[in-house]
Amino acid sequence: MHIRRHGAALLCAAIAAGLLAGCAKRSSEPLVGVFMPLTGPTADFGLTTRDGIQLAVDEINAAGGINGKPMKLVIEDDRGIPAEARTAVTKLVDQSGVVALLGDVASSNSLAAAPVAQMRKIPMISPSSTNPEVTRAGDNIFRVCFIDPFQGYVMARFAAEHLNAKTAAVLWDNGSDYSTGLAEVFKEEFPKMGGKIVCDVVFRAGDIDFSSQLTKIRATNPDVIYVPGYYTEVALIGRKARELGITVPMMGGDGWTSASLIERAGNSLEGCYHSDHYSADSDEPHVRKFVQSFTKRYGHAPNSLAALGYDAAWILAEAMRRSEDLEPASIRKQIAQTKDYPAVTGKITINPERNAEKSAVVLQIRGKAVHYVTTIEPRK
Ligand code: PHE
Repeated sequence: MHIRRHGAALLCAAIAAGLLAGCAKRSSEPLVGVFMPLTGPTADFGLTTRDGIQLAVDEINAAGGINGKPMKLVIEDDRGIPAEARTAVTKLVDQSGVVALLGDVASSNSLAAAPVAQMRKIPMISPSSTNPEVTRAGDNIFRVCFIDPFQGYVMARFAAEHLNAKTAAVLWDNGSDYSTGLAEVFKEEFPKMGGKIVCDVVFRAGDIDFSSQLTKIRATNPDVIYVPGYYTEVALIGRKARELGITVPMMGGDGWTSASLIERAGNSLEGCYHSDHYSADSDEPHVRKFVQSFTKRYGHAPNSLAALGYDAAWILAEAMRRSEDLEPASIRKQIAQTKDYPAVTGKITINPERNAEKSAVVLQIRGKAVHYVTTIEPRK
């Protein structure tokens, strides 16, 4: 009894000392922290990304793990809230002792968390945050997707060239770094292609009534409406627009990607378009193999979130395999050297800004499913 109490006291002292020092002992295993929303209005983002990561980790471990050691995940739900993403990363690094991080999906969460990872010098790969600022947090912050100056250009071009649109309305979330960035790019690019922005209105994540914004838009009679938001609000906007008699196509970005968008939106987004990172319709052999394994395991085809999670985990594993040890600094160096990796979302080379330059696809919602329309290559 006495000894046990003594032991407990010692343990407490050790934990307190560790907390004071700001860090637990870092793992000597390939222990990876994952942070993303698994609950809340953007839960689809994290849940689907996690499925892709998990599939990759099982494949990696079946193929010998990281030089014989299995890659392990510690997963934190940040509920899609920037402050919680920050806390999650602090916890993963200081308490779990992870050697690298995968996260977040939404740019505002990655932007909040990146400075913590950078300060502690733990490499972080965002699978899918597209706001340009994310990787500017420092040399430990990477992503495996394209960025929004390109994604906004893609839909401006698609509107002008493919839809022959002359006028556009933009409806965006001014509380989201992602939405704000995409709206800015679109408003800059569309006029360069001969188009005119006839209405510019905002909302906030969590809003449920969009009638005032859509009534304003209706009055300007645009050829298209650009809605660079996330699926929860996009579905409500779609429904309300049709209810108000607006029939023109709506367009969005990767934030429309969700297993539940079509169910939430009903028929309201039928015929609408969004830009994305990948299409499950691809006939490239390695993509087909991924689509098959994912579908077999989860019962549905992988969307871009799953594909980017899968790619991010594989790129991290390959960097760890090349790394001389499992020190974050060594891993960081190897991630930066990623070159021509044959990912399912396209060939990935990490550029000096720690981003990946890749083509984008445009997808269309038709008959309750999402279909490939076209590919747009990076600008020269
Ligand atoms: N690109 C979005 C962001 O930065 C996140 C996202 C990526 C959502 C891919 C869905 C699919 O916020």
